[in-house]
Amino acid sequence: MPCLVAPPPMARPGRRRPSTSVHRRGRTLAALPYRCRCGRRHLIGASSAAALLPLVAPPSPAAPPIDPEVMLERVHPSRPDWYEEFYATAMDQGMKSYESEIAGYKAKLFSQLSATGKNILELGVGTGPNFKYYASDDGVNVIGVDPNKHMEDYARTAAVSAGLPPSSFTFKRGVAEALPAENSSMDVVIGTLVLCSVNNIDMALREIYRVLKPGGLYLFVEHVAAPDGSLLRFVQGAFDPLQQFVADGCHLTRKTGENIRDVGFSSLSLDSVRLSNAYIISPHVYGVASK
Ligand SMILES: C[S@@+](CC[C@H](N)C(=O)[O-])C[C@H]1O[C@@H](n2cnc3c(N)ncnc32)[C@H](O)[C@@H]1O
Repeated sequence: MPCLVAPPPMARPGRRRPSTSVHRRGRTLAALPYRCRCGRRHLIGASSAAALLPLVAPPSPAAPPIDPEVMLERVHPSRPDWYEEFYATAMDQGMKSYESEIAGYKAKLFSQLSATGKNILELGVGTGPNFKYYASDDGVNVIGVDPNKHMEDYARTAAVSAGLPPSSFTFKRGVAEALPAENSSMDVVIGTLVLCSVNNIDMALREIYRVLKPGGLYLFVEHVAAPDGSLLRFVQGAFDPLQQFVADGCHLTRKTGENIRDVGFSSLSLDSVRLSNAYIISPHVYGVASK
């Protein structure tokens, strides 16, 4: 029985919470008051609360920990419409040289994926620059998740030109921190240049793990901080606040490769590369992880 008074911290994917957790063993919590693992004192223990609140329904096992719409408003409340439109146009027009430089790496990465018949979720789908690498395979179903509604038209156009039938693409306004998908429902999750922008990177990674089927793949390309002590790392630190402001929350100094390693995927291949066209958002880490 989970702690009903204060929610326990979320378990890390791939690492089971010990079965001895005080949140699970009500009989150790019956004393009044007690100090909960959450660090606070509660007047009633979890087992007592459970007895008093028999009608509280347990969360559905197929639901994300928090309602996706609530999470969307919490971590990415709507920006002014002009800003979202401007950012979508900037991503559509301003990434062409970047996309041509990264194309070889993406082609190699996506070649590891046979997308045929697969359920695919792309988080932070943006204008849809990745569809051309996988969406023409037979029977692919794609959910594109993005908080910016102005990305939808660009993503739809890119999906159609990549050969994806319109009925096989669904755009959902949402965030990576609470993906609008059921547990273990996706064969593949894709994310490129998005963990730099999410509000809570570990929560987003837990969600990726949650929605993947066992054996499902997570393909990623992310820009990360340059090595500590380098000139580039200094420049990234100086420009980080400005970058967050102009690029909708994008951080320059995240160590995303380490976050991905910490998830506990059953296998992970991770490479890095420096790109000449993307000085300040370099280096990149890219690879594939399997649940
Ligand atoms: C730099 S763009 C990358 C878009 C696309 N994946 C690409 O490779 O061009 C970052 C994208 O992440 C989206 N985004 C921002 N915060 C997000 C969040 N919390 N969850 C999911 N997507 C988010 C932005 O709206 C934007 O479309």
